[in-house]
Amino acid sequence: MKRQSLIAFDSETNVFHLSNPLISYVMKIEESGVLSHIHFGKKVSNYTDNKKYPRRDRGFSGNVPLHEERAFSKDTLPQEFSGHGSMDYRIPATIITRENGSSLLDLRYETYQIIQGKPKLSGLPQTYILEEQEAQTLCITLKDRDLPIYVDLFYTIYEKRGVIIRSAKYRNQTEQTIWLDKAASFQLDLTNSGRFTEVIALPGAHARERLISRQRITEGVKSFESRRGSSSHQMNNFIALTHTHTTENLGEAIGLQFIYSGNHAFEIEKDQIDQLRIVGGINAYQFQWQLSTNEAFQTPEMILSYSDEGLNGMSHIHHELLRERVTRGKHQYEPRPILVNNWEATYFDFTSKKIEALIDEAAALGMEMFVLDDGWFGKRDADTSSLGDWFEYEGKLANGLKGIAEYAHEKGLKFGLWVEPEMISIDSELYRQTPDYLMQEPARTPAASRSQFVLDFTRKEVRDSISQQLRKILDEVPIDYIKWDMNRSLSDVYSAYVENQGEVYHRYVLGLYDLLEELTTAYPDILWEGCSGGGGRFDAGILYYMPQSWTSDNTDAMERIDIQYGTSLGYPISSMGAHVSASPNHQSGRVTDLKTRGDVAMSGVFGYELDLTALGEQEKRIIKEQISTYKEIRQIIQQGKFDRLENPFEQNIAAWQFVSPNKKEIVVFMARRLTSGQPPFHEIRLVGLEEGMYRERKSSLIYSGSELMTMGIYLPDFHGDFQTEIFHFEKIVTGEEEENASIN
Ligand code: GLA
Repeated sequence: MKRQSLIAFDSETNVFHLSNPLISYVMKIEESGVLSHIHFGKKVSNYTDNKKYPRRDRGFSGNVPLHEERAFSKDTLPQEFSGHGSMDYRIPATIITRENGSSLLDLRYETYQIIQGKPKLSGLPQTYILEEQEAQTLCITLKDRDLPIYVDLFYTIYEKRGVIIRSAKYRNQTEQTIWLDKAASFQLDLTNSGRFTEVIALPGAHARERLISRQRITEGVKSFESRRGSSSHQMNNFIALTHTHTTENLGEAIGLQFIYSGNHAFEIEKDQIDQLRIVGGINAYQFQWQLSTNEAFQTPEMILSYSDEGLNGMSHIHHELLRERVTRGKHQYEPRPILVNNWEATYFDFTSKKIEALIDEAAALGMEMFVLDDGWFGKRDADTSSLGDWFEYEGKLANGLKGIAEYAHEKGLKFGLWVEPEMISIDSELYRQTPDYLMQEPARTPAASRSQFVLDFTRKEVRDSISQQLRKILDEVPIDYIKWDMNRSLSDVYSAYVENQGEVYHRYVLGLYDLLEELTTAYPDILWEGCSGGGGRFDAGILYYMPQSWTSDNTDAMERIDIQYGTSLGYPISSMGAHVSASPNHQSGRVTDLKTRGDVAMSGVFGYELDLTALGEQEKRIIKEQISTYKEIRQIIQQGKFDRLENPFEQNIAAWQFVSPNKKEIVVFMARRLTSGQPPFHEIRLVGLEEGMYRERKSSLIYSGSELMTMGIYLPDFHGDFQTEIFHFEKIVTGEEEENASIN
């Protein structure tokens, strides 16, 4: 069968149409080469171009230079990418300053190219393809009206995914230096069709990440950004556009997700005639990239998804794309080991004896990996020293780091280790020997956070010195997993080794990516986990190098429900570390049942983070059961299709479900926070099941798929606060089906 081209250009109408069975993206070269945006959304068949954007002479919205038509204005026309200073007063995608101080830039269409597959970006995380046939890329080149300053706009469309991957490349072909003051990855102008009236963002704080915030889009500019040097706890780099009526399962949604781990900004402007402009990419805050003659700057990629099957439909697209075409390596689809981490069990205060006792318990309970967290290196007994000294703390572990790793292996457990390679303590050998590795303006006291400072990762020699230390440990100790932490935001962003200070934030991130690429390539068998004080750098950029991240330092089961629910909007479950910790919880002081803690953590990449040596027999029995349950459902959780069912941000209950890749099994999680004397009953309706009959494992009750979806099942009549339940349905083969199977 001949494959349909995914990208078409109609030279009569001057229309570009990218489409697959799910989506269409349409744009048009207007008179004078202004590139207008026509449609991003559901697939349009047989587009005629007869629905024209109305032209109207609007006061104070002037005209396109060199095109004397009063009704044609860049101030209102939906466009693909905006320059600056020529009658478009909405937020610009680009600001470029030239040597004469001018920042006027009037972008016009120059040429286009259709590329089979997807070109690789160098030094940046990105979506990838496995075979050329699965995607096509359109590159449209815009050029300033007067000067050879070019912007290449890239649009990749996959055959079977509801996404467009966008990025931009800025090229300076003038004889002079130019400075990019703002270099967005994408712009999306939406006409006033009333389709998108709200935005969902994922704001938060340390130990309170990615909580769902749904807001009306009103006049003015709304911006969602990070200025912390990382994607941040405070504002994740994923947003969604929705209609007021969009629910989890119905209505339109556009997801916008940045494949980047540094400063970001999404700006949404509702203009004078109620149209929307959304611009996103690297935050223009403290950003200025210098481009000499013939130099180019490539932005990171932005994922634009579209679904008309509600927020769940949108999330499926992001989950699948991130799992299948962003994360890489050996562990991409591998069952992730059930781990125990010693952090909340011991903090910095551990000995070989204590660690071995934890390992013994972990092995007896059926766990699969022991992770030694902070405190094993330098002279680290508190968070005030030793960052940068990635050599073993002599004498702290009587049997040595290698001895502990081997002990874990002997007991049948994998061994994992915590590191925080981007940081430096003043009290460290690294600082004593190379104080200039610390990022700061020389002779100006930098700000501490958690008593630590950031290394100048813009410098290769700094990265190399860290890399050498880490490689020595990785070569000498049998390590199966690394937890790569980052426990502060950037400040004092200055490098004496970078010519243009506006580049330091981004060069830091490029430096980080360079080191991550080097190490993850050199040690492909290691399972890498990202972390930043929990989920402070939980983004698609990091997932390109490390397939999972520690979701939050907050392990309180009730708060985790919100955090995991919010995170699932843009991120697959296989990326979310979730642990059972002690009760009362160390962060919140809340007391919850071990069952509740286990049920919540089992909806992620499962593990434990508490003192196993302090458990009673009853607790051990429950933990053994949890572990054997998780082993049975692990691939349904980590690789299945996830749907949110009941939103905890709107009510006292929460529910979600997982459907196994072969569609034969469904795991449903339900929770109620607070009890009451006369609790209402809730019916939870499942989604996306096949026809046929399903048996619930614990109760052995049989339901039809249709029943489960149309009528649902009742939330258990819980007694007490903070209660949860997990249901596991299996499709049963009925007599009739068996008969049909034998006839066929
Ligand atoms: C961060 C991490 C924790 C733990 C500590 C160790 O806060 O998120 O899980 O590793 O650092 O210092």
